Amino acid sequence: MDLVNKIAAGEVIERPASIVKELVENALDAGAARIDVAVEDGGKRLISVADNGCGMTAEDLALAFAPHATSKISNEDQLFNIATLGFRGEALASVASISHAHVRTRRRGDESGYELTTSAGEIGEVRPCAASPGTTTITRDLFYNTPARRKFMRSSNTEFAHVTEQITRLSLPHPHVAFTLTHNGRQTQDLPAVDSTASRIRDLFGDELADSLIPIISRKGPVGIAGLIGPPAAARASGKWQYLFLNGRFIRNRMLSHAMREAYRGLLDASRWPVAFIFVELDPGQVDVNVHPTKIEVRFRDSGAIHGELLAVLRTTLNKANLSPSAAPAAAAPADAQPDDSAAEDRRASLREAMADFFKSAPPPQGHLNFPKKSYPAPPDASSPPPAQSVQTPPLPASRETTDVQEQRITPEAPPPCDLPAAIQIHNSYIVAAREDGLVIVDQHALHERLIYNDIRRRLTAGPLIAQRLLIPETLKVTAEEAACIESHGELLGRLGIEISAFGPGTVAIQRFPSLLAERGVAAGEFVRGFLDELAEYETVDSGQLLEDVIQIMACKAAVKAGESLGADEIDRLLSRLDHAEKSSFCPHGRPTMLKMTLKDLEKQFKRT
Ligand SMILES: Nc1ncnc2c1ncn2[C@@H]1O[C@H](COP(=O)(O)OP(=O)(O)O)[C@@H](O)[C@H]1O
Ligand SMILES: [Mg+2]
Repeated sequence: MDLVNKIAAGEVIERPASIVKELVENALDAGAARIDVAVEDGGKRLISVADNGCGMTAEDLALAFAPHATSKISNEDQLFNIATLGFRGEALASVASISHAHVRTRRRGDESGYELTTSAGEIGEVRPCAASPGTTTITRDLFYNTPARRKFMRSSNTEFAHVTEQITRLSLPHPHVAFTLTHNGRQTQDLPAVDSTASRIRDLFGDELADSLIPIISRKGPVGIAGLIGPPAAARASGKWQYLFLNGRFIRNRMLSHAMREAYRGLLDASRWPVAFIFVELDPGQVDVNVHPTKIEVRFRDSGAIHGELLAVLRTTLNKANLSPSAAPAAAAPADAQPDDSAAEDRRASLREAMADFFKSAPPPQGHLNFPKKSYPAPPDASSPPPAQSVQTPPLPASRETTDVQEQRITPEAPPPCDLPAAIQIHNSYIVAAREDGLVIVDQHALHERLIYNDIRRRLTAGPLIAQRLLIPETLKVTAEEAACIESHGELLGRLGIEISAFGPGTVAIQRFPSLLAERGVAAGEFVRGFLDELAEYETVDSGQLLEDVIQIMACKAAVKAGESLGADEIDRLLSRLDHAEKSSFCPHGRPTMLKMTLKDLEKQFKRT
């Protein structure tokens, strides 16, 4: 097999999972309703992909392994409007150059099937054979002729994990196609054809995750976005759980990942990643998928618009979503719960409704989502602030008196919503309070942290935090590097109300310190030391993330602690803001601030129903 093919193969085929991807994409392009994938030794020894798609004629089959043989592009125009998954006509040629391949195929309605074997790069004769409708492609002994690449492959288990991940990525946008996956004779995955991506997610990831997901939908101009996103509580320790699809194809895209990070900012600890299944639909002419040989990275013509659109829909959805976890034990909810039984069931119902038309109409073979023509509520204009901001948090009055977080330990944002008996503090850590529809248990530190966090963020949009001059400046030993750091971050520190000046060799003096911290007895030196240590952990400073981290630390330090006794008025003030503050169900690190128990939950627990 010629060198060109081997080189091309090196680009596209890294490991068994890459072959699985190419073969399954071909099966999807052929309109298969069922695809059975079987591998041995993680795919290193054998990969078989069987489909019931359109099959090939003898002539098609004879050409399938020729480099640049593709039946999917007939003119140059199409090259720039790529809708099918395959299109370069190189995959099979590449596969044949680095493994022994065998294809058996039959078109529905044809009398005979045909087969073809390639061995050591030699393409054999097309022969008639018995075959069921569709195509089965088997490749053996991957990289048999390229020892360097063979050595690069990992253990069978690792390679199989990559194959499994590949099937996940390919099966998510094609819920109407049934998939099975078998490893060394044992079936590991059995995904029936279902009518929505939501159902496919349930089959792949289980009920618990599927039930927690929140639908997002937006359509603006040429950009359509639909998907399911996890609440902060479902976040994971890795970004692997962010499934992003463009026109039915799994992609990675830094810009869109950034939009996701941005949207969850203040809801998640920096080390946690939201779970998300996001499907972007775009006119194929608006995107270049040929940036990367395996098409996993793409380039958008108007990336700003897509970034803005995704960010807007995520923000509005997260602001509107009821994210508070229920205190009712999971076992209390019967499997056939009525729609109004719990928040989770509410979410399930709205999810079903929102997604039903949506993901049902994805037509094979391209697997694109069909955005129904009817109009969805328009997402907020990216240039104007998200509505929740202006609705929920009153604009900052010009005077300093009433708005600052340090005015009172806990500042009221609105009067208490209803006339209910006073709440009680238990173990100096939690507040139990009656609610119109049941009760809430609040983690006093977590909630206060969230409120202060919101206040700081709001305050910073108007100007720097209120600071006080320290009567006796606090000195701090710093390295030359740290001194330079303080200087280069002077502006950010200034916004936060921290003023630091040089004070002899290796020493700086903190002159001003934000009042909200000073009044809580937070030591200025210790705080700035923490800031410098934090900064040292950044490889490259993302100033947005740095500010975010510092605000989180400030909110944490200024908030009442667990174990602190609160007066009745402090409890009242804290609770009065619970229902009005943005994202109040979660602290800035994504931990819940409260648990809710409805009267229905109680009735069920006490067997009153
Ligand atoms: N499973 C399949 N069912 C039907 N036709 C197939 C299948 N796999 C490959 N082919 C045919 O072989 C051709 C070459 O496949 P490939 O090398 O993957 O190129 P591409 O998918 O980019 O067209 C395809 O264009 C298609 O005509
Ligand atoms: Mg292909």
